[in-house]
Amino acid sequence: MKKHLIAPSVLAANFAHLERDFEMVNQSDADWYHVDVMDGRFVPNISFGMDIISTMKKLASKPLDVHLMIVEPEKYIERFRDAGADVITVHYEACPHLHRTIQQIKETGAKAGVALNPHTDASVLEPIIEELDLVCVMSVNPGFGGQKFIYSAIPKIKKLKEIITIHNTKTLIEVDGGVGLQNAEKILQAGANVLVAGSSVFKSENPSQTITKLKEIGGYTFHV
Ligand code: DX5
Ligand code: ZN
Repeated sequence: MKKHLIAPSVLAANFAHLERDFEMVNQSDADWYHVDVMDGRFVPNISFGMDIISTMKKLASKPLDVHLMIVEPEKYIERFRDAGADVITVHYEACPHLHRTIQQIKETGAKAGVALNPHTDASVLEPIIEELDLVCVMSVNPGFGGQKFIYSAIPKIKKLKEIITIHNTKTLIEVDGGVGLQNAEKILQAGANVLVAGSSVFKSENPSQTITKLKEIGGYTFHV
């Protein structure tokens, strides 16, 4: 049995003190770094690309979970892998040939994930669930940190959990957006395995302690 994972979202870190913030996460109970890539096309915001991720890779002692909020992600998979991505997640809504894109991610040696926007039903992933290492349930509309958790994510997590159980796969359910100490228990009880937390960690008074608290919340354990 394994406890849930905590993935602080570096979008909420202080980029003038990236080294300091990474050192805090390295020393903390966090498991992964969540790294948000935005292109100003799939989402109405622009963040950073491969060069910044290469720098982050040098600072990080934990895996980089790279969330691609970009159109045509298949054009850049290898370059994100080369930059240091350990998990590469693409959006269902951005991939007309999702099965092929998943295979492309796996061929690089990275773990493959698919993210679902709030309006996208869990059932769309049933035909390819056995191919997926991770499903990222967006609990905000992607594009910005610091938004309010959308509660319809909870039944979606439960539905995904059922699909994963029926197919007997090891797919992890990640929840991204508006996650914090106030709702983490509910999310974990619904069946989530990975909590992404940006503002609730980096904007808190004691980020490292917040990570520990998120990690210690009871809820759900799972087999790997
Ligand atoms: C939203 C991003 C999230 C974001 C989460 O588009 O995918 O990963 O950084 O930030 P918080 O935890 O502040 O909602
Ligand atoms: Zn994200």
